[in-house]
This record gives sequence, structure tokens and C-alpha cells, in this order.
Amino acid sequence: MNDLLVGKLVRLAAYDPEEMGKAFSRWSRDSEYWRLMDTSPAHMPSAQGTTKFFEKEIDKLDTSLYFFGVRRLEDNALIGEMILHVVNWAGGDAFVGLTIGERENWGKGYGTEMMHLLLQYAFLEVNLRRVTLTVFEYNPRAIRSYEKAGFRHEGRMRKFLNKEGRRWDMLFMGVLREEWMGLDTAAVVE
Ligand SMILES: CC(C)(COP(=O)(O)OP(=O)(O)OC[C@H]1O[C@@H](n2cnc3c(N)ncnc32)[C@H](O)[C@@H]1OP(=O)(O)O)[C@@H](O)C(=O)NCCC(=O)NCCS
Repeated sequence: MNDLLVGKLVRLAAYDPEEMGKAFSRWSRDSEYWRLMDTSPAHMPSAQGTTKFFEKEIDKLDTSLYFFGVRRLEDNALIGEMILHVVNWAGGDAFVGLTIGERENWGKGYGTEMMHLLLQYAFLEVNLRRVTLTVFEYNPRAIRSYEKAGFRHEGRMRKFLNKEGRRWDMLFMGVLREEWMGLDTAAVVE
């Protein structure tokens, strides 16, 4: 079997709150990044404040939260983050959130591979049964990437979100372990 957390382009790495605080604060200077990633109005959190927030989250030692930094293999640069949140252990049910910070790193296949790795971890290591995510209707790059990773459309909250003075839907997508096991990408674990 290959290394569970290492792909061909990126790897899932340890989550360093200080490094992530600086990176997240820098990424948030781009209002488009914020628009795609968060329901709250665009703002610019400080590196220090963000580091403290991440430190507190990690200090909770909440075993239902799995934090990962994402590093590009070719130069080891920190390009993004992923969080897997198990919401129901008995049902084996979790939510995933992910982001890649800089625009120049969007659309290069990193996000789809990050999701392959995370699903491999979720289904084979954490022994989950399903993984869910939410995405805004105006984010076709993300939606396409999630479809490629095996997610199916499961529903939408209509007019959930306020951006640019109008309302937008939030979509729910999900993937079941048995569906994921049937995908070609699941073969990375052979
Ligand atoms: C969402 C995100 C993780 C996806 O990762 P990524 O590396 O950019 O995505 P990939 O390159 O793996 O795949 C993108 C796919 O969308 C397609 N795509 C890009 N722009 C598109 C558009 N406007 N309409 C339709 N498809 C589009 C690409 O062609 C590619 O599909 P293909 O391989 O079939 O050609 C990343 O773009 C990101 O973090 N963006 C900023 C923040 C964000 O959106 N976070 C997610 C919140 S839910």
C-alpha cells in the first residue's frame, strides 16, 4: 500500500497553528477567496488572532476533529488546509471542509487529489460510512472537483446565503464508503 496521506501532487501534513495562522490571514486578503469559502462577510483576520483561534481548537483535543495542512510535494509549500469533523460516531458520519489559499494554485488538480487522500483516510483509517460537504452554488470549480472525487448532489438550502446584495443557495454533497470503494481512485490504496 502507498503512504496513506501522500498523493502525486500533494500530501496531508501536520497542522501547525502558527504557520497556518499566517497563511490564512494572508489568503483572507483576497475577498474572492473569502466569498468562495465562508458565509460571513469578507474580512481580514490578523495572523495573531487566527493562530490563537487554531491553537484553541487544537487544544480542545477533540478526537472528532482531524486537522491537516496541505503541502505541495514539489516544493513543500503550504497551499491549503482540510478538516474532517466526525459528527456522529455511531453512524460513521462526518463533514469535510477544505481550501486552497492562493488563486494561482486553483484549477491545478490539487483540490481533487486532496479530497482523494482525505476520503481514503476517512473510509479506510477512521472507518467512516459517509462524508458530507457544503458548497455555494456560485462555486462551479469546487463542485466539479468534488464530483470528480466521487461526491453526489444530495440537496440544497435555498437562498441560504447573502453575497453581493442577493441570495444564493448552499448545496449539500455526499459520498458513501461503498460508492467510493467502487471508484478507480480508490485503487490508490492497493
Ligand atoms: C475548491 C478547491 C479546493 C478545488 O480545488 P482545485 O485544485 O482548484 O480543483 P481541481 O483543479 O482539482 O478541479 C477543478 C475542476 O473544475 C473545473 N473548473 C474550473 N473552473 C470551472 C468553472 N468555472 N466551471 C466549471 N468547471 C470548472 C476544472 O476544469 C476541473 O475539472 P476538470 O479536471 O474536469 O477539467 C480550490 O479551488 C479552492 O480551495 N478554491 C478557493 C476556496 C474554495 O472554493 N473553497 C471551497 C469551499 S466549499
